[in-house]
Amino acid sequence: MDLEMRQPLIVGNWKMNGNLPESIRLATSLKNQFDDKGNIRVAIAPPFTALYSVSIALAETNIQLAGQNMFWEESGAYTGEVSGLFLKDIGCHYVIIGHSERRQYFHETDEQINLKVQAACKSELVPILCIGENLKERKAKETLSVVEKQLKLGLKDLAIHDFDNIVIAYEPVWAIGTGETASPEQIEEVHHFIRGWLKRFFDAPTANMTKLLYGGSVNPDNAMDLMKINEVDGLLVGGASLHPEDFIKIIKFEENA
Ligand code: PGA
Repeated sequence: MDLEMRQPLIVGNWKMNGNLPESIRLATSLKNQFDDKGNIRVAIAPPFTALYSVSIALAETNIQLAGQNMFWEESGAYTGEVSGLFLKDIGCHYVIIGHSERRQYFHETDEQINLKVQAACKSELVPILCIGENLKERKAKETLSVVEKQLKLGLKDLAIHDFDNIVIAYEPVWAIGTGETASPEQIEEVHHFIRGWLKRFFDAPTANMTKLLYGGSVNPDNAMDLMKINEVDGLLVGGASLHPEDFIKIIKFEENA
């Protein structure tokens, strides 16, 4: 792995957890334990309602902020939606797009996800595009074709320069919140496939600078082994990111080496 180009990235996705005081407490606790000594980039994605307060709590740290979702239009009559411009304005650097929970519960399609990825790039946010198969698809040996379809549609019409910053997170749906992590072989196979696909559809330099994260039941005990897998450049952490001690241990995975 070219560390210069693909500095490891660990992102905590708080999902719909944390009212305002809880979010500030969590962010402050993280800030107090974060020493920023490693070569790791760190981001957290609190709920929209806490983003601004958390951005203030994290001021003067290198912990960056991520939105958990966004809409593709910049502004207008779209009740209940939040645009990339608003996320940028509030201090976000990243935005998670196409998380499997959005696909499953809110019926987001690959086409909508593509519009969001394009809009994120336009707003100068780094999109973290989530892809991954469900259990039925894995059992039917459809993993690679599902992932390929999600890549092809999700990354449609992007310009090469959009890839300066894009992040792709492979999250097998059956591994999310279940305590069941994909095996190193399963993860390596899919990550290798994604890198190869990016090389074919864009070019080798583009593929080589795109960060590929793994997500699905990451915890302090498995983080180091996951980070050792070929082509894994970082982690997308759900449940464990709600516990600052655990999230810090994940960030400091190298210390367990
Ligand atoms: P989990 O969630 O770590 O709780 O499995 C991961 C995710 O949904 O990004």
